[in-house]
Amino acid sequence: GKVAVLLGGTSAEREISLKSGNAVLAALQAAGVDAQAIDPRDGLFAPLQAGGFDRAFIALHGRGGEDGLIQGALEWLGLPYTGSGVLGSAIAMDKLKTKQIWLQSDIPTPPHAVVTNAGELVAFAEQVGYPLAVKPAHEGSSIGMSRLESAADAEAAYAAAAGCDEVVLAERWIQGTEYTASIIGEQVLPLIRLETPRTFYDFEAKYLADNTQYHCPAGLDAAREQQLADLCRRSFAAIGAGGWGRVDLMLDTAGEPWLLEVNTVPGMTDHSLVPMAASQVGMDFAALALRILDTTFD
Ligand code: DAL
Ligand code: MG
Repeated sequence: GKVAVLLGGTSAEREISLKSGNAVLAALQAAGVDAQAIDPRDGLFAPLQAGGFDRAFIALHGRGGEDGLIQGALEWLGLPYTGSGVLGSAIAMDKLKTKQIWLQSDIPTPPHAVVTNAGELVAFAEQVGYPLAVKPAHEGSSIGMSRLESAADAEAAYAAAAGCDEVVLAERWIQGTEYTASIIGEQVLPLIRLETPRTFYDFEAKYLADNTQYHCPAGLDAAREQQLADLCRRSFAAIGAGGWGRVDLMLDTAGEPWLLEVNTVPGMTDHSLVPMAASQVGMDFAALALRILDTTFD
C-alpha cells in the first residue's frame, strides 16, 4: 500500500519536521515503499482522501502535529498512523500534565511550578534554589527555554517562554548529565548520554553546533542501563504513549534519575538521537523507518 509521510506543519518546529520528514520519505522510497509527502500546512483531508493511502507516517513535530490534532484527523479518516494515539500525544505535548501523571505514578520528575510572571519565578527559586529551567509547557526542541541563574534574568527568561506559550513552567534544575532513551514497540534502544560545552542541550546544541558529544553506549553498567530503560518504558506507558518515541531524563550527581519529558514524534534528522541509538544496534536509518512504519499495525 501507499504511505503518506506527514511533514512540515505549522509549529515552531516546522523546519526540523521538514528535515525529519524528508529523510524518512527518501529512506522509505529507497527501500521500495510507495510513499508521498503531505504538508498539512497546505491542506490535509483533500490530499489524504485523494491519495489512495493505506497508512500515514507522522513526522510532524510540535503543536498541531505531535499533540493529538493530526492523530484525531487520521482516526476520523480511518487511516492507521505511526506513533501514539490522540490521548498519549496530547499528554506528551503538555509537560505539566505529563509531570502530574508521573508524580501520581511514582516516577521521579523535577519539582515544578506554573508561573504567570517573573516575580513568581523568583519566588519559586527562593523555595528550590537556582538555577531553574524555565520553559513553555507545550513546545519542543528547547524553543523558548532558558536556564535561569539569578533574579536579574527572571524577566528575560519569563518573556522568552511566555512568547511561545500561554503556560510557563519552571523546574528545579537538575545538576548532572542528560540522557535519552529511544523506544520502538517493546524495545528500548541503548541510552545516549549528551554532553555540550554550552549551558545546556539547547536548540543550538541540538541542531547546529558541531561540538555536541553523543555517547552511545552511554557508559552505564548493564544493570543500570536495564533499570533506566525499564523506568523510561514505564514513564512512556504511564502517559498513554505508544508505538515509538523518546524519553528524556537527567541523572543527578548522586546518580538519581529525573524524568524530563516524552517526545512522541522525536527528530529523525541527521543530527537526531533515535537514528543514532538505532545504529548502535545495527539498525540503519532505512531499517529504522521501516520498523517505525510497522508499528502502525501493532
Ligand atoms: N522535538 C524534537 C524534534 C525532538 O524531540 O527530537
Ligand atoms: Mg520535546
